[in-house]
Amino acid sequence: MTEARVALVTGASRGIGAAIAARLHADGFHVVGTATSEAGCDAITSALGSERVQALPLRVEDEGSVEALYASMKDTCGTPLVLVNNAGVTADNLLMRMTAEEWGRVIDTNVTGLFRVTKPALRGMMKARFGRIINLSSVVARMGNPGQGNYVAAKSAIEGFSRSLALEVASRNITVNVVAPGFIGTDMTNDLTDAQKTQMIERIPMGRIGEPQEIAEVVAFLASDGASYITGATVPVNGGMYLN
Ligand SMILES: NC(=O)c1ccc[n+]([C@@H]2O[C@H](COP(=O)([O-])OP(=O)(O)OC[C@H]3O[C@@H](n4cnc5c(N)ncnc54)[C@H](OP(=O)(O)O)[C@@H]3O)[C@@H](O)[C@H]2O)c1
Repeated sequence: MTEARVALVTGASRGIGAAIAARLHADGFHVVGTATSEAGCDAITSALGSERVQALPLRVEDEGSVEALYASMKDTCGTPLVLVNNAGVTADNLLMRMTAEEWGRVIDTNVTGLFRVTKPALRGMMKARFGRIINLSSVVARMGNPGQGNYVAAKSAIEGFSRSLALEVASRNITVNVVAPGFIGTDMTNDLTDAQKTQMIERIPMGRIGEPQEIAEVVAFLASDGASYITGATVPVNGGMYLN
């Protein structure tokens, strides 16, 4: 079993998850990063090297895949004391056109996936009387966004779930917090047209798209000993796009 604290980051192959994994690794954690494919796992190890790093496959919609991930960690580094539920998907459509599959995929991956990954981490955290759970939401959870009813529902659910879990586990010194990014430059947002990006930037008082590293900084703080008295919070990181 590893000496360093184990941090599990879902969806660490690219975008915000890759930045979080790199930041936690730089802070001395043993990082277990997940991806849905072998190429994604390779991307994690080429970014972070092989010291205090494991790249493992995970599809959060598949219970068997979650079980295999935890079995593999148990045999190698042990259970995570820091869990960053970062993996997420979108399937945008106006509700009039949204299919049940698009609705179901976004809810299942983003919300039920988070349930599947979080529950098995709790026992080890309870035993250690230490834990940090950090869930990724989005500015749109509170702001709303046309064409993203499924995603907004999912992210709102994550925020409510996190507050409830925070209350359940606070007495065990386990904190549960949410980071809600604004508009961040990753594959998830790269699909937008230039016109859409310009329109989006006009709504950001800081006048620019955020960087994945700017999300990673906040996650790293919430994972640190310095954040020991923060729980049940949702931290907006959105350049002023929405104030609440
Ligand atoms: N980018 C933004 O502007 C923004 C804003 C607000 C919130 N967020 C949230 O921040 C998080 C990261 O976003 P991002 O922009 O970095 O996304 P991204 O670039 O699309 O990357 C998504 C990550 O999730 C993984 N993933 C996708 N489907 C998965 C599944 N079914 N099971 C397990 N892992 C899966 C991907 O793995 P593979 O590489 O293997 O596909 C990838 O590592 C998400 O929760 C997102 O909702 C993003």
